Amino acid sequence: MANNQPLQTDLPEHIGIIMDGNGRWAKKRGLPRNYGHREGAKTFRKIVEYCSKIGLHYLTVYAFSTENWKRPKDEIDSIMELLEQYIDDAFAHRNKDDNVRTKFIGDMSALSPVLQEKIARIEKVGEGKQGLLVNVALNYGGRNEIVHAVKQLGEKIKSGEISPDQIDEQSIGNHLYTVGQPDPDLIIRPSGEERLSNFLIWQAAYSEFVFMDVLWPDFTSDHLDQAIYTFRQRNRRFGGV
Ligand code: FPP
Repeated sequence: MANNQPLQTDLPEHIGIIMDGNGRWAKKRGLPRNYGHREGAKTFRKIVEYCSKIGLHYLTVYAFSTENWKRPKDEIDSIMELLEQYIDDAFAHRNKDDNVRTKFIGDMSALSPVLQEKIARIEKVGEGKQGLLVNVALNYGGRNEIVHAVKQLGEKIKSGEISPDQIDEQSIGNHLYTVGQPDPDLIIRPSGEERLSNFLIWQAAYSEFVFMDVLWPDFTSDHLDQAIYTFRQRNRRFGGV
């Protein structure tokens, strides 16, 4: 490994992951796409556990985008089912001493009432916890998130609570789903694709990107370590010199 620093020191504060390649993983094996998502959900759990173990503070994963509704109904249903299972398991283990908090970001109003209720319940369980915060981006789109923030600010202007010149980067950030959280330092996209696909587009202004040639179900903690080592070798200047 090029950088021999222990992993726990000098960690990024916030990592984003675009969990891509489930469909191709299944196709390569002659299996239906849903199998790929099922394996992808297992990988997600392992990575959450690992991130918690190494002491990461924030992890955001892209589970379902505002564009993913274009997929066949049975594929959408199976992803929603995996999410429900994840929440049910997290709820069943809520007293475990892992300190992981789960938050869902995106437009929850389009989800089934059952899923919405489960989401509210699991978010409540995490309220007192101090460990890793996992944001699951669900029915999430970065542009949609910005539109949502602008609408809220528009309402505040209409009611006289603020004036237009009070709109700045901070006030927009305060109306995003990630309010109060640091921007992602590192965004990882497995599967060989090299684009952001509407993921955290506001928050990623100064993120480092690491694209990896592995399909999400095959992604392991070693890949995460590798991405963190690559991140450490980057020279982040935030527009300075
Ligand atoms: C992208 O791969 C993946 C998705 C759109 C769904 C991600 C969902 C999961 C990992 C399972 C549920 C999540 C949780 C948090 C329990 P793709 O289907 O676009 O793959 P392809 O590009 O190879 O077709």
